[in-house]
Amino acid sequence: MGLFTKKPIHLLMQEAGDSEKGLKRTLSSGSLVALGIGAIIGAGLFVRTAAAAAQNAGPSVTLGFIVAAIGCALAGLCYAELSSSIPISGSAYTYTYATMGEFLAWIIGWDLILEYAVGAATVGIAWSEYLNNLLVHVLHWKPIAYEWCHSPFEHSIADASGMIHSGIMNIPALGIVTALSLLLIKGTQESAFVNGLIVITKVSIVILIIILGWGFVQDKNLTPYIPEPTIYTDGQGINHHFGGIMGILGAAGVVFFAFIGFDAVSTAAQETKNPKKAMPIGILGSLAVCTVLYILFAHVLTGMAPVEFFRTDGKEASVVAAINKFMPGYAWLGKLVTIAILAGFSSVILVMLLGQSRVFYSMSKDGLLPAVFSEVHPKYKTPYKANLIILVLVGAFAAFVPGDIVGDMTSIGTLFAFILVCAAVIILRKTNPELPRQFKTPLVPLVPILGIIVCAAMIFGLGWTNWLRLFIWLAVGMIVYFGYSKKKSHLKDKD
Ligand code: ALA
Repeated sequence: MGLFTKKPIHLLMQEAGDSEKGLKRTLSSGSLVALGIGAIIGAGLFVRTAAAAAQNAGPSVTLGFIVAAIGCALAGLCYAELSSSIPISGSAYTYTYATMGEFLAWIIGWDLILEYAVGAATVGIAWSEYLNNLLVHVLHWKPIAYEWCHSPFEHSIADASGMIHSGIMNIPALGIVTALSLLLIKGTQESAFVNGLIVITKVSIVILIIILGWGFVQDKNLTPYIPEPTIYTDGQGINHHFGGIMGILGAAGVVFFAFIGFDAVSTAAQETKNPKKAMPIGILGSLAVCTVLYILFAHVLTGMAPVEFFRTDGKEASVVAAINKFMPGYAWLGKLVTIAILAGFSSVILVMLLGQSRVFYSMSKDGLLPAVFSEVHPKYKTPYKANLIILVLVGAFAAFVPGDIVGDMTSIGTLFAFILVCAAVIILRKTNPELPRQFKTPLVPLVPILGIIVCAAMIFGLGWTNWLRLFIWLAVGMIVYFGYSKKKSHLKDKD
């Protein structure tokens, strides 16, 4: 069998119908929107927004959000068509297998590890920043020592005695990932319920910051809105294009992280009651709500504090740091936000871990990964062994890699996946025109093509260090494919 062998659609559908052996169908469209928002609002908004303002765009980070939202909406329309016509666990991986063949499906499956596993690690690291904030500003305890809440590649700014500290291991990030992996093993239904409560809190807090913070926006922080193009070198010695168009594109690539997750909804298709209707609602509904909130939030945040603040004192736990410094009298809001964010980040990590285990589940069912990844727990009906293996992978990234690096790796990996999803819609319309589609992407091929262009522009904006990381990651994936998966593929036996 060749590299371009496609998985027949009828085989996919047959597997989906085989519910005896598969996962339980328990999610409704309401819980999908909640799952989507639960996955979307998180570290992207509360950590990466400030990073993008500091490193790339200043106040014009709002324009970056608009570019990212356009890319996501275009790709989201493509996701919605695919998930309503191939309602099967596995997301972009499954769609690619049906349309572009096994090799590209492998590449995308491997690439999705960046989105879900590395993404979960990024949010775990952000969780660790806000945990310290909880300890110091809410509970008035001592912070965790710098060494034990940062990776070995990070160094502090000089403290009062002139000491510079270096990280060793991010223990809180590892801890939260471990706790949530264990919760996930207990079952999706329980997790979705907890998630629902958290979503309400999270959306309320974002709205509260927008309303209360609006009065503290100062014109001087927003002028010039698009800074003059220059080069900014961050604390790890990496150069970024700051200001101008490149700054906006770079910011779009960074804050794109904040939108990641609406597609995670499609990975839960096999556990959804009426996937053909619920999927498009879940994906596009959650995306629309978040876009409006993000643009307003970014405007308030960058209007409240100058860029320099986000490069220094406000580099970590930026939103609460800005509230504490620039909104006098609102210390209570800072405390509330800290608690809400810790819960909010948890729901994001949960959905990402869920997405990752489902992608591994599908790849293992196809023989591209060992059978251990699809072993379902006899009582909980969850792929518990996959969850445990993912815990080791995510835990390693969370404990030992800086948040900026894993964040941008997540963005670039996901953008690449989005490009393939857009292409899959065009291909599937040609190869399987008869397939019933509950939701059809409008204006094909224009919408998918524009989706590809906007996502590619954001990849361009992320710069060559990130291109290199993606390239190395994919090269390792190819070694695994040719060394293992190609030989073990089940599709080979079916021909
Ligand atoms: N969109 C998710 C976040 O912002 C990944 O944390």
